[in-house]
Amino acid sequence: MKNIFLALSASFLAMAIFLSFTTGTKQLPAPGNDEILNLFPTEVSTILNNSCFQCHNSDSKNVDAKKGLNFSEWKKYSVIKKVGKLKKVCETITEDEMPPEKFLERFPHKKLTDEQVKLLCKWVKEESEKIVKNMN
Ligand code: HEC
Repeated sequence: MKNIFLALSASFLAMAIFLSFTTGTKQLPAPGNDEILNLFPTEVSTILNNSCFQCHNSDSKNVDAKKGLNFSEWKKYSVIKKVGKLKKVCETITEDEMPPEKFLERFPHKKLTDEQVKLLCKWVKEESEKIVKNMN
């Protein structure tokens, strides 16, 4: 009886480890995910998390990317910097500069759709107006 119980717990444990391993590898930028998901409205954060956050966060090895835009530091950005970077977000995605082409060769599904570009640019405008309004 005791042996059956032990065998059962062992297989449960093995399954739990297996499950956490397989689901864990599916989410790409695992560290710091919450950082971006809690920063903006869900639909915006989801797109940024999927296509941008990987390079644009403090843990990124891409020094140029995080110098250009670092979502981990977003809350510390000045009003001028926030508004400037927001404008750049819409510009770079409209001109197909972001995400970079090389990255899209490896991860084609991370290319933004026209709808996503439209949604982000609309949000950029609203968010910028909100930030400037709150300044006064
Ligand atoms: C593979 C890494 C990578 C990904 C993914 C990526 N970027 Fe970038 N990004 C960079 C690099 C590198 C730079 C800096 C180089 C430059 O300024 O040309 C940059 C710069 C920027 C800048 C700053 C431009 C400026 O002149 O101030 C913005 C804004 C930006 N990216 C937005 C985005 C958005 C939005 C996404 C997702 C749709 C994205 N990036 C995805 C690598 C990336």
